[in-house]
Amino acid sequence: MAAPEFIENVEQLRALAPVVTAPIRHHVFVCTGKSCSARDSAEVLAAFEGELKQRGLLFGREAKGKNPRGSIVVTECASVGFCSIGPAVMVYPDGVWYAQVRSSDVAEIIDEHLMNGRVVSRLALLKVPAEGVAQTSKANNEWEA
Ligand code: FES
Repeated sequence: MAAPEFIENVEQLRALAPVVTAPIRHHVFVCTGKSCSARDSAEVLAAFEGELKQRGLLFGREAKGKNPRGSIVVTECASVGFCSIGPAVMVYPDGVWYAQVRSSDVAEIIDEHLMNGRVVSRLALLKVPAEGVAQTSKANNEWEA
């Protein structure tokens, strides 16, 4: 198999990856590893996608009901080490890791964190970069998201 061609032309790259020119503000990762899946992470992922689609915020192809000018990317990811306390949801660029997220929590994370920059502290357990000390029980104004 031939090595893929390395593309140097930035305009060509932008045309091939429309996300580059979208006004992306957040990337939400939902863990769909084995343990998080056993705790209904697929429902959490579906709740993010459904709610953000409804609000016109989910980046993606129009043909899939998403918005090519959407400001939020949602992807699933593999295990991040919250296996016993999942489902894990990570919000970047804020670096906030949520634990034990249920589909019923999704609207609150969107309204509070993604829309208003207020971390949902009752679910937030880690802020990256971290100093190796669990960051629990933080008040909303201490999260700097
Ligand atoms: S399976 Fe989700 S954190 Fe491990």
